[in-house]
Amino acid sequence: MIGAAGAACLFVVADRLGSPSPSEPPSFPVQLQAAGAFRPPSAADAPKDAYGDAVRFGEQLMTDTANHAPQYVGNGLVCSNCHLDAGRKAGAAPLWAAFVNFPAFRAKNGEINTFQKRVQDCFLYSLNGTPPPLGSRELIAIESYAAFMSRGLPSGMSPPGRGFPEIDAPEQAPDDRRGAMVYGQKCSACHGPDGAGQKIAGGPAYPPLWGARSYNWGAGMARIDKAAAFIRANMPQGNEGSLTVQEAWDVAHYIDGKTRPQDPRFTSSAKATRTLYQDTPFSRYGTVVGGVSLGDPSNTPQSGLVR
Ligand code: HEC
Ligand code: HEC
Repeated sequence: MIGAAGAACLFVVADRLGSPSPSEPPSFPVQLQAAGAFRPPSAADAPKDAYGDAVRFGEQLMTDTANHAPQYVGNGLVCSNCHLDAGRKAGAAPLWAAFVNFPAFRAKNGEINTFQKRVQDCFLYSLNGTPPPLGSRELIAIESYAAFMSRGLPSGMSPPGRGFPEIDAPEQAPDDRRGAMVYGQKCSACHGPDGAGQKIAGGPAYPPLWGARSYNWGAGMARIDKAAAFIRANMPQGNEGSLTVQEAWDVAHYIDGKTRPQDPRFTSSAKATRTLYQDTPFSRYGTVVGGVSLGDPSNTPQSGLVR
C-alpha cells in the first residue's frame, strides 16, 4: 500500500506527529536532563490516607484493569501491557511524563483534553471498552497515581522518556512478507501464531496483538508509526532494542494489517470512516490486505464487546 514515495514522506509525517501538541513545548531544563531519566516514587510510598489509597488503586487499575473495572474493559488487554511497568517505564508512554502536560489540545478529538479525558480515550480505543465517566472513582484513581508519580517534575514540558522514542524512517517501504517472517521468528512464541496472545498455566500472560481481543481500529497502536516506535524500543520482551529499524516497521505494518475490533467512530462504511478519521499512510483501516477488506463489518468484531 505504501510505495517508495510513501516511505519517503513517512518521516516528515512521523516527525510532526511526534510532538505532543501543535505548539512546541519548551525544552526540558538541562540540569534535570543531566540527572538522567526521572525515577518516579513507588505507589507503596504514597501517604497512608485517602489520597494514598486512590494512588494505590490507580496502580492496580493499570496492571489488573479488567478485574477492578470490568464494566469499562472490552478486550483482553490491561493498561500496563502497553504502558509498561505499571505506567512507570520511560519510553513506554509513562504516565508521570504525560501528567505534567495536561490539559492539552488533541487533534484526535479536537478538544482541550484534561488528563481524565485522555485516559478515557485509552479505555475507548486501546481497551476497546466504555470509558468510565469523568469524575468516576476509577479516573480519579488513575489521575491520582499519575500525579503522585510526577511529583517534582516541572509542568508544561515533555520530560525525557515521554511517549515512545522516535524511530527513523524505514529504508524500504514496510512489507507484509518480511513482517510475517519477523513475527514468526521473534514474536509468535509469546504472542501466539495467530496473534491472539496466550496464558501459560500458572505463568505469565501474553497479550493479543490482533483479533477480537486486541485494541480496536481507533487505537494509537493501530497506527503503524506508533506501533513501530513502541516495538523498536520495548519488544521482544527481554531482548528490547534488538530489532533493526526496518524489522520494527515491517512487523508493525504486518500486525496493523490484521483484523481487530471496529473503530467506535464507525459511520456508514470503513472507507467513509477512514476518510473522516484515519486518512494517513500509517493506517491500513479501510484498505484491502490479502483479500480482506479491513474494517468491513463482515469480518470485524463490534467495538466495546469482547473480553
Ligand atoms: C518473551 C515474550 C515476548 C516476545 C518474544 C514478544 N513480546 Fe510483545 N509483549 C510481551 C508481553 C509480556 C507484553 C505485555 C507487557 C506487560 O504487560 O508488561 C507484550 C506487549 C506487546 C505489545 C503491546 C500490547 C498488545 O498486546 O498490543 C505489542 C504491540 C507487542 N508486545 C509486540 C511484539 C512484537 C511485534 C514482538 C516481536 C518483535 C513481540 N512483541 C515479542 C511479551 C513478548
Ligand atoms: C494497546 C496499547 C495501549 C493500552 C492497552 C493503553 N494505552 Fe494508553 N496509550 C497508548 C498509546 C499508543 C498512546 C500514545 C502514545 C504517544 O503518542 O506517544 C497512549 C497514550 C496514553 C496517555 C497519554 C500519554 C502522553 O504522554 O500524552 C495516557 C495518560 C494513557 N495512554 C493512559 C492509559 C491508561 C490509563 C490505560 C488503561 C485504562 C491505557 N492507556 C491503555 C497505548 C495503550
